[in-house]
Amino acid sequence: MTVIRYDTIRTARLLMRRWRDCDREPFAALNADPEVMRFFPAPLERVASDAMVDRIEALFDRQGYGLWALEIAGTATFIGFTGLNPMPDGVPGAGGVEVGWRLARSAWQQGYATEAATAALGVAFDGLGLDEIWSITAVLNVPSQAVMRRLGLAEYARFEHPRIAEGDPVRPHVAYRRLRRSADAGPAQTGPRSVRSRYDDRSAGDG
Ligand SMILES: CC(C)(COP(=O)(O)OP(=O)(O)OC[C@H]1O[C@@H](n2cnc3c(N)ncnc32)[C@H](O)[C@@H]1OP(=O)(O)O)[C@@H](O)C(=O)NCCC(=O)NCCS
Repeated sequence: MTVIRYDTIRTARLLMRRWRDCDREPFAALNADPEVMRFFPAPLERVASDAMVDRIEALFDRQGYGLWALEIAGTATFIGFTGLNPMPDGVPGAGGVEVGWRLARSAWQQGYATEAATAALGVAFDGLGLDEIWSITAVLNVPSQAVMRRLGLAEYARFEHPRIAEGDPVRPHVAYRRLRRSADAGPAQTGPRSVRSRYDDRSAGDG
């Protein structure tokens, strides 16, 4: 099967591109920043950070899209990633595609995550023809949920992340979803679903 490649995307202020070796150091620095990693179980060591870059690049090779490295256009400054990634197993929306982001602190509060994610949704819906897009984060991660809502995703379900230890404050998670045909595919009348009642139900007729 021919893979359509989305190696480079330009937005008004950003270059979204494949990863380079020179990204590894600033990526490791942001992964080691406890503030950036506040809503994860722990910051990442350099080895784990590099392994993540390897996994991201392998997925780009295989599927033609992924978590793009972000550069402020015209500056060559690496600020983090935004893009598309497979949803993990064992969560609402498993098997689907997630839109996600992780930016260095210096790049927060400037609209970059939303700008890049808007372009990523363009690839997801118009390029790949996906019917839905997901995003998950810790319930405590208010800034990430604000990005989701700006993109037109709406809360779908709350759940305990299966790979985060019980008792960890970031274990309670929330899944957001947007359907292609609707800017607001949320559960308008019914409120957020429980995981048990809607788990993996793709034929939901809302939105
Ligand atoms: C999640 C994360 C990307 C959100 O960053 P953010 O800066 O809040 O989001 P955006 O880049 O979309 O910027 C939006 C903010 O920039 C402001 N802004 C400033 N100038 C702007 C401009 N020119 N255009 C648009 N927005 C602008 C907006 O008003 C908004 O601020 P507000 O939420 O206070 O209203 C960031 O907190 C992060 O990287 N966190 C660590 C990693 C993480 O938790 N990732 C998610 C895990 S699931």
